[in-house]
Amino acid sequence: WHGWRGIIEEYRDRLPVSETTPVVTLREGGTPLVPAQVLSERTGCEVHLKVEGANPTGSFKDRGMTMAISMAKEAGAQAVICASTGNTSASAAAYAVRAGMVCAVLVPQGKIALGKMGQALVHGSKILQVDGNFDDCLELARSLSEKYPVALVNSVNPARIEGQKTASFEIVDMLGDAPDIHVLPVGNAGNITAYWKGYKEYATDGPFGALASRTPRMWGFQASGSAPIVRGEPVRNPSTIATAIRIGNPASWAFAEQARDESGGLIDEVTDRQILAAYRLLAAQEGVFVEPASAASVAGLLKAAEQGLVDPGQRIVCTVTGNGLKDPDWAVAGAPQPVTVPVDADAAAERLGLA
Ligand code: F0G
Repeated sequence: WHGWRGIIEEYRDRLPVSETTPVVTLREGGTPLVPAQVLSERTGCEVHLKVEGANPTGSFKDRGMTMAISMAKEAGAQAVICASTGNTSASAAAYAVRAGMVCAVLVPQGKIALGKMGQALVHGSKILQVDGNFDDCLELARSLSEKYPVALVNSVNPARIEGQKTASFEIVDMLGDAPDIHVLPVGNAGNITAYWKGYKEYATDGPFGALASRTPRMWGFQASGSAPIVRGEPVRNPSTIATAIRIGNPASWAFAEQARDESGGLIDEVTDRQILAAYRLLAAQEGVFVEPASAASVAGLLKAAEQGLVDPGQRIVCTVTGNGLKDPDWAVAGAPQPVTVPVDADAAAERLGLA
């Protein structure tokens, strides 16, 4: 059987695992790289979407979590903990089930999407809603992991970054080389750090030769109400409808700046309005349903194109990080109510404009 085996088996020689590491996997990774026709036309470029919502728990976090949970298991951990805006906790909860571990989750009260809360609950994690924001949750998770026998699986855990870098490998494997530009949403800044590490590793000559001839420019976008890297200082009360990236003091801040600077890239902001416009465009015109935070990458690309920063003819990949089903409120809000009809073909045809 030659199906996709998950990122650890597919990229074992590039990950810090050994033959004795217990591989805890849900066969994550191997996600679609979808050509984006409308975005390509709008920018005059060749734009692709890396659809990370196609991972087993619906976000890119699974790539990092298979590594973090496998290594925690190898180290003998019986319990894991994370702070989360929802996706990390959904992923940790699922992988902890696979590993036979207890999972504790700290989320900002009232600020995570319902689908993500449902995932943490149905996978049987122990959830605490914290009277604070994500940054407070992370501080609490860190101190609990220092004082008690529980392994921290946030992206400050290097295993997470190792797993998430495999998305860059897949993109180069599919395209034959690195793109000119790679665009990502930025929250806690782990993912931009991981992608940059992956691209650099593939462009470095190793035992198998370099698999990419170059690295892309890294473009990261924060939500305007939660844009500490753009502001140059922590945001005490971050706000945005894109709750996944509602973060005021990213743990991997310095690494994100390093990715930006080494790659000749940029980190900028997009407004909630721009995020929602990109969210609707992706669903209505590309057929790809993502959660609002995921649309920050595409919103950023469109903003940059309007500013004249996107030279035509380039190859661009936008990561869309999470599945739209996690947070469907924004799909339903403002949409017209479906019309009710009797069981009658003529009436239905008339309502559908077919008659
Ligand atoms: N997109 C989605 C859907 C996310 O859930 C996150 C982060 C990001 C983008 C940003 O990635 O933090 O690596 O810069 N979610 C974390 C969580 C914080 O707890 O699920 P980042």
